Amino acid sequence: INLGVLASGRGSNLQSIMDACGAGQIPARVAVVISDNSSAFALERARRAGINAEYINPKAFSGKGNYERKIVEVLQQNNVELVCLAGYMRLVGKALLAAFNERVINIHPALLPAFPGLHAQEQAWHYGVKFSGCTVHFVDDGMDTGPIILQAVVPVHASDTTDTLAERILEQEHKIYPEAVRLFCEGKLEIQGRKVYLKE
Ligand code: GRF
Repeated sequence: INLGVLASGRGSNLQSIMDACGAGQIPARVAVVISDNSSAFALERARRAGINAEYINPKAFSGKGNYERKIVEVLQQNNVELVCLAGYMRLVGKALLAAFNERVINIHPALLPAFPGLHAQEQAWHYGVKFSGCTVHFVDDGMDTGPIILQAVVPVHASDTTDTLAERILEQEHKIYPEAVRLFCEGKLEIQGRKVYLKE
């Protein structure tokens, strides 16, 4: 299976997926990495691994629809079957979702439906929850609202700062994201309404 990864930043989740593919843990390869940020380290990680890396400037397009149609074109040129958002800092719109129906997934650094949106680790720390974690979910047209595939829980310690909490969560992200991609690629995920069932 060819994966397309959309990333805006450092790309550590991208790296965990590339590593799992390289180690043969996922029957897939990252075919292309697309970023809306020309200086995203994610692009550099892709180039170093010999993977197509494409910067697509949203400002070069009039409107989200045209921008996303360009993304879809690049994904299709690379025969992408699953789109993985990995620190992609934009809400996905109709054009991308229509082209990749039930084939876009995302990682979020909180236990959804708690703390959707930006700075989820900070939100959780400020709220004072005793546990937080991360969520891999299918993407729909809401903000972090799609059907949940996998979650991992981490404790919040009294001595934590938002940074130490984010670090503990990130460690789990790097485990469950490749695992969710594997389940998808092996055809083990079945969406029924809000629920994602694991087929054996
Ligand atoms: C991660 O915390 C992820 O959960 C969130 O954005 C961050 C991306 O980090 N969606 P990285 O670019 O994968 O290192």
